[in-house]
Amino acid sequence: MKLSRLLCTLSAFTSGALARLVTVPIVPFTETGGSYKLSEITGIVVDSRYVDSVDHDGQTLIPPTLHEFAETFQGDLKEVLGLDVQLTKGTERSKNTIFVTIGNDTGFKDAAGRFTSEAYELKVDDNGVVVTGASPLGAWWATRSIIQVASIESSALPKGSGVDAPGWGTRGVMLDAGRHFYPADFLIEMCSYLSFFKQNTFHVHLSDNLYNNVDIYSRERSLDLYAAFRLWSDDESVAGLNRRANESYTREQFDNIQTQCAKRGVTIIPEIEAPGHALVIVQWKPELGLDDLSMLNISHPETIPTMKTIWKTFLPWFHSKVVHIGADEYDSSLISDYTSFVNQMNTFIQEETSGTKSMRIWGTFTPKEGANVSKSVSYQHWDVSADQPYYDYIENGYDVLNSDDYMYLVGGWSGSFAQKLSLDKIFNGPYDAPYSPVVFDSSNQTDNPSRNNPRVLGEVAALWNDYGPNSTTVLEAYYSWRDALPALADKQWGGDITEDEYLSVFDALHAAVPDQNLDRAIPSTSDTILHYTFDDSSSKSLTDQSGNGRWLLC
Ligand SMILES: *[C@@H]1O[C@H](CO)[C@@H](O)[C@H](O)[C@H]1NC(C)=O
Ligand SMILES: *[C@@H]1O[C@H](CO)[C@@H](O)[C@H](O)[C@H]1NC(C)=O
Ligand SMILES: *[C@@H]1O[C@H](CO)[C@@H](O)[C@H](O)[C@H]1NC(C)=O
Ligand SMILES: *[C@@H]1O[C@H](CO)[C@@H](O)[C@H](O)[C@H]1NC(C)=O
Ligand SMILES: *[C@@H]1O[C@H](CO)[C@@H](O)[C@H](O)[C@H]1NC(C)=O
Ligand SMILES: *[C@@H]1O[C@H](CO)[C@@H](O)[C@H](O)[C@H]1NC(C)=O
Repeated sequence: MKLSRLLCTLSAFTSGALARLVTVPIVPFTETGGSYKLSEITGIVVDSRYVDSVDHDGQTLIPPTLHEFAETFQGDLKEVLGLDVQLTKGTERSKNTIFVTIGNDTGFKDAAGRFTSEAYELKVDDNGVVVTGASPLGAWWATRSIIQVASIESSALPKGSGVDAPGWGTRGVMLDAGRHFYPADFLIEMCSYLSFFKQNTFHVHLSDNLYNNVDIYSRERSLDLYAAFRLWSDDESVAGLNRRANESYTREQFDNIQTQCAKRGVTIIPEIEAPGHALVIVQWKPELGLDDLSMLNISHPETIPTMKTIWKTFLPWFHSKVVHIGADEYDSSLISDYTSFVNQMNTFIQEETSGTKSMRIWGTFTPKEGANVSKSVSYQHWDVSADQPYYDYIENGYDVLNSDDYMYLVGGWSGSFAQKLSLDKIFNGPYDAPYSPVVFDSSNQTDNPSRNNPRVLGEVAALWNDYGPNSTTVLEAYYSWRDALPALADKQWGGDITEDEYLSVFDALHAAVPDQNLDRAIPSTSDTILHYTFDDSSSKSLTDQSGNGRWLLC
């Protein structure tokens, strides 16, 4: 341990490092002594004044009401802690209840000092628990804290109180579902995982292609390469765009993904990629391609109308306030075409949605290179060789989301990128300090904004499938994240959990994540999952002798 860090640890300890709950993320909390057994709880009482309140500040356009969040919480208490409690409405708390209400507090502030609707206050005393959300979403995050503490401390909640608020409003992951299909249920289970650690964003990249050896392919061969568009519509205007019906989401399925995720406070940010990584569109309309057929020829008169047709078809499917049009890795000799494309799509999306949606693009070309993109578009930075977010975007008045390649993963194999998130990078960072959403540049700290810079939207860690659908299985995406994503969630929130603390609670928390079985664990009364003896050849049926009793074959 470096001396500076040791001193830091010591001073933190003496100045009250214990004023926090060791959950993931960490929850600031001042204990007053003693604990309350959550098993004493007989009911959840939702403040009747706010049962139908919803959060309008978050990223979703389908926010659950306070009562709906409380219902999900009720189910989780049963599933995770075996507590079967009533859910009622009331104007005040009663003994042995969790009272859920909405309120305000001067501590409900993000890293930039602004009010955040995701904040909450948690109070535990002899009578039970009071959750005061800055909004229903804030109250929801409080319920995650309660379940986490109870899972770690065998249902004992320390008495005391704390106010907790995320530093940044966009926290989560991006998954390349363009070059690898993921069934809808997998995405929904991942939302349960993200949500338990208070991540609120699941960015799903819905179209892409393989094009790793572009120079060796003929035009004919290129037009036959793997390329996919994952939304399936029967609308005539997009007939032929998607040729993989069995590896797509129908509107009903995509609605369900978004609704199930929203139910747990997670917003799906959909991305349809163009004008680069757009081979699937060129396979549909070959006349729209450049010589590199993965790129659209923006100056072709049909290109922008085609993209507008696609977005017009799918915009009504999307329930997020932000949609992503990709705009990554395009021909650097066509920057003015690129600018014109981005700005025309931005105007179109705003008009189509009466301004209820804004648009995001990947960091690709900077203002200094001549890109002059509308300030209402937000950038998602990923590579410091493409841009320096602080100088190129923030200083020019753009909001930026951090997806720096320091945390970048590629499924299966990569010459330069990791396959799994690294605890070392999360806890030790590039500058001998934990990673944080403001670390855009991992090799020169002076190029990063300050922690309270209001233009930093947060962080989303990306998992790409550059080597296509056969390079990994569906569940490998989960295993890329499983062990370390909660730690990153702490840093995305602004928490200060240490690696030792994290490792000490991870197993208990991992076992408690509700509404998913990503480990594909098989419930069993013992280590023996099934046991047939096969010794009675006259018997017409085989009986499982493992004690699990459900493997009865006739
Ligand atoms: C809480 O106060 C902040 C200002 O500090 C305000 O922006 C916000 O709307 C208030 N929220 C509620 C629920 O009253
Ligand atoms: C979809 O169909 C293709 C071609 O038959 C097949 O290779 C692929 O495995 C199918 N995908 C799924 C998810 O069933
Ligand atoms: C792009 O489209 C324009 C307009 O149709 C055309 O003049 C140009 O040759 C095309 N570029 C390529 C590389 O095909
Ligand atoms: C960028 O676009 C804005 C809005 O259209 C315009 O006012 C400004 O002059 C442009 N800047 C440059 C350098 O072209
Ligand atoms: C770090 O960035 C600053 C500002 O861009 C620059 O002046 C300095 O030379 C850079 N340092 C290194 C080691 O690259
Ligand atoms: C994946 O493997 C299957 C079975 O070998 C093969 O048919 C298919 O072309 C492969 N897909 C890609 C994109 O390489």
